[in-house]
Amino acid sequence: MEHEPVLTDRVVELLVPALHGGGLFLDATLGRAGHARLVLDAAPAAQLVGIDRDPASLEESRTHLAPYEGRVRLVRDGFENLPAILERLGDAPLRGVLFDLGVSSPQLDEASRGFGYRSTGPLDMRMNPSQSLSANDVVNHYGERDLERVISRYGEERFARRIARALVDARPVGSTTELADIVKNAIPAATRRTGGHPARRTFQALRIEVNDELGALERGLPAAIDALDSGGRAVVISYHSLEDRVAKRTFAEAAKGCVCPPDFPICTCGAHAVVRVLTRRPLVPTAEETERNPRARSAKLRAVEKLAEPVGGDAA
Ligand SMILES: C[S@@+](CC[C@H](N)C(=O)[O-])C[C@H]1O[C@@H](n2cnc3c(N)ncnc32)[C@H](O)[C@@H]1O
Repeated sequence: MEHEPVLTDRVVELLVPALHGGGLFLDATLGRAGHARLVLDAAPAAQLVGIDRDPASLEESRTHLAPYEGRVRLVRDGFENLPAILERLGDAPLRGVLFDLGVSSPQLDEASRGFGYRSTGPLDMRMNPSQSLSANDVVNHYGERDLERVISRYGEERFARRIARALVDARPVGSTTELADIVKNAIPAATRRTGGHPARRTFQALRIEVNDELGALERGLPAAIDALDSGGRAVVISYHSLEDRVAKRTFAEAAKGCVCPPDFPICTCGAHAVVRVLTRRPLVPTAEETERNPRARSAKLRAVEKLAEPVGGDAA
């Protein structure tokens, strides 16, 4: 399946005002360059830096971005390494950043990547195929307690203990469909009919663990905010509550000014607001969009704008 980018109008509306005068647009999760092409079309003076840790995504994007030759640089790396990536790129002002998190439809559909529970593939799930940790290591070699922790924390799965026990008992687990069947059978029959496919949460958990998805966002997003030029904007689209929580918290902290008690005569905490939040509540797709593109169903978009000068709180 082709990847259909999510919330495209919102992404363009939010990023393009910051890119009218040119400068760098950094797409930290380039994928198939769906969003990137729309932003390049709407902001003709902007230059794109596209990052992805999956070489297959970058290769595909190279073809899609051929018409924009001279305006595009592609980087195969993880966005958690943003400070080093930006240093290599020189000092063009960074005017816009997009994080469209998770995996793309072609990654999910390609059985050999091991992301999907509907088709048989190896226990892989690595976005970057040259990293060593794969789903096989987690499923077949983690201790039962660690496996339970991963499934419970990253899958928010209430039957994590039963699933971890069943997986350990079934070792070696050989494929994605075998894994999905073990998970399904470990869950009480009465609850299997609710909340989508019974293995969805366990697959999400394993993917997050294998790719350190939350750790990457916790490192990459503050680095992006730090590097933004004043008036530059950052947009994050997340697909589950754990990612959305990291985005919300990171933006709230960056938007927070002085935290001294109100009766302090002068600021002693030294905290400064560096952004203003552009989305008081997360933006979500319309019913029409989720009808057309079921992948959009869980999407939440948050955005901030970098302030010209750090701003303190009331007491500053
Ligand atoms: C949802 S897709 C992005 C789709 C893209 N916006 C489009 O319109 O085609 C997410 C992409 O981000 C990449 N990715 C996820 N985490 C990453 C990370 N930490 N660093 C770099 N790329 C990452 C994945 O490999 C995938 O290609």
